[in-house]
Parts: sequence; structure tokens; C-alpha cells
Amino acid sequence: MVMQLSRCPISKNQVIAPGYFLMEIESPEIAGEAEPGQFVMIKTRDGLEPLLRRPLSLHRISSTSIELLYQVIGKGTQSLSRTRPGEFLDLLGPLGKPFPLPKSNSGSTLLVAGGMGIAPILALAEKIAKRSKVLPAPRLRQAGKGQRSRAPLKIHLLYGAKNKANLVRIKEFQKLGVEVKTVTEDGSAGRKGLATNLLRESLVSSPGQISAVYACGPRPMLKSVARIMKNKKIPLYLSLEEMMACGMGACLGCSVRAKGKEIHYLRVCQDGPVFETGEIVL
Ligand SMILES: Cc1cc2nc3c(=O)[nH]c(=O)nc-3n(C[C@H](O)[C@H](O)[C@H](O)COP(=O)(O)OP(=O)(O)OC[C@H]3O[C@@H](n4cnc5c(N)ncnc54)[C@H](O)[C@@H]3O)c2cc1C
Ligand code: FES
Repeated sequence: MVMQLSRCPISKNQVIAPGYFLMEIESPEIAGEAEPGQFVMIKTRDGLEPLLRRPLSLHRISSTSIELLYQVIGKGTQSLSRTRPGEFLDLLGPLGKPFPLPKSNSGSTLLVAGGMGIAPILALAEKIAKRSKVLPAPRLRQAGKGQRSRAPLKIHLLYGAKNKANLVRIKEFQKLGVEVKTVTEDGSAGRKGLATNLLRESLVSSPGQISAVYACGPRPMLKSVARIMKNKKIPLYLSLEEMMACGMGACLGCSVRAKGKEIHYLRVCQDGPVFETGEIVL
């Protein structure tokens, strides 16, 4: 995978919910190399302030452009929100390791998103959905009746947010055929609860075998997901959103403890941001 440092034109930057922006950036170089789960380090405006680039996940990848979904938090994302189409920004990417795809093309894949953790999950859902259309479902041998196809892979999104306004991009998932379940912390849309409640229920009710579980969201949610999935023998991939300064493995600012007896650290920007459960101490 080749990382590019590019100055790229912004083709779209629009509010999609209070404090949430969707930005489209023309960059065939980055888009051509990018995989779901990776991120870019973006210089949010020209000049010295803010000095450091900010990490943002690839929300969507096309052949010539990428989309970023971001929430306005502080200085960097505020200045990003003021960027107009036609302006140019400096980008470094694609960075980090992508999500591995489910090994099986049948059964169910569960995507668990909490809050802004939804950002990299759409690119992943698009890639899984595209692959499951291309690859035929594996065939089952029936006693005396030759073969029949297993049901194709079903993708389920289990999505939790603070409130109704923070539940974004649901239609995009539905267009892919993803079954979407939502909860909010204040009960303003759907049931009151957390994405992890939906995960517990889905483990009981999912038809067929679960081929993999993917999760992105706040650290307490990831911890809880890892606890629920413990001893389940289902591949679990967690995407971490650690604070980052360089994004390229140089500053060690994003280190997380690796599992194991010896003390050893992994860098979220280079060894992640996607980790298989069991690799890191949450
Ligand atoms: C790999 C990766 C992918 C990310 N993808 C997305 C994405 O797709 N969309 C999105 O909206 N955000 C994403 N983030 C988080 C995003 O990078 C931060 O929200 C952003 O850098 C904040 O910059 P700021 O200048 O606006 O805020 P700052 O002024 O830098 O910070 C404002 C406040 O937010 C806190 N903060 C800043 N960064 C983080 C962080 N990473 N985690 C927790 N608290 C933080 C700071 O402690 C501070 O209190 C991602 C982070 C990582 C590491
Ligand atoms: S952000 Fe510098 S090493 Fe990861």
C-alpha cells in the first residue's frame, strides 16, 4: 500500500445533522490505494494553526474520490467545517491497517457502531456487500439431493447514538441491503439503550452462523463488545480512535498495550487502527 501526501480539491462539504459534516475530496491517488478501516491525516486549514493534522476515517471510497464524515469537536474540525468546495487541503494517506473481510460468504456479519464510530463502518459495509454479490454463496451438500446454495451473507448494523439527531447515514446502509437496528441513549429514536444491548440480542437471534463481528466506537463500548464476545470463537475486529500526533508511527503518542506477559506496545496509527481482539489490552 502506498501512502500519498497530496493537495486535494474539496468537492463537497455539507452539514448532514447538527454538528456533523460530510466532506468529499477528489483524490484518485488516495482513493486508488484506500481500503475500509484506513484513515487520512488531514491538515484542516493552511497556515500554522492548528499545526497538527487530524485523523479521519475513510467513510466512503470511490475510484476517484473519498468521503469523510466528521463531527465538529474543537479547533481542527471547526476549521474543516468552514472549508468551501473548490478549496484545497493537504492529506496524508491512506494510513493504517484495513478491516480484514469475513472469511465466509454466508451467515451473518455484525457491524457494531457507537456514535462517530459509524464513519468507517459504511465503507466496510459497501465492500462486504459488493464482494457478496460477486462471490457465489458456498454450496451445501444435501443427503441424496445433490447441492443447494446456502443463504448469502447478511449484514446487520447495530448502531447506537446519544440521540435521534446523532443517528446518521442509515439510508446509505439500507440501500446496500443491510439490516439496520438502532438505539439511542435518551430514547429519542427507537429503543433506549446501547449498541451493546443490540449485540447481545443478535448473538441469540441471528439466523445462521456469525462469520465476523466488527466494532468501532468509544473505548468503553469496545471493552464491552470484547467482554460479550469473549470465548465465542467468532472473529472480532475493533477499530480504535486514539488521539494521534503524527499518524505515521514516529511519535509513539498513540501507543496501546499489547496482550501478553511481556510489556510491549503497539501503535494505533501503524499496527491498527483495526485490531483483532486478543492483540491489545483495552
Ligand atoms: C484513526 C482515527 C479515525 C478517526 N475517524 C474519525 C472520523 O471518521 N470522524 C470523526 O468525527 N472523528 C474521527 N476521529 C476523531 C478525530 O480525529 C477527532 O475528533 C479530531 O482529531 C478532533 O480534532 P479537533 O481539532 O476538532 O479537536 P481538538 O481541539 O484536537 O480536541 C477537542 C477535544 O476532543 C478531544 N479529542 C480529540 N481527538 C480525540 C480522539 N481521537 N478521541 C477522543 N477524544 C479526542 C480532545 O481531548 C479535546 O478535549 C478519528 C480518530 C482516529 C485516531
Ligand atoms: S500517532 Fe505518532 S506514532 Fe502513532
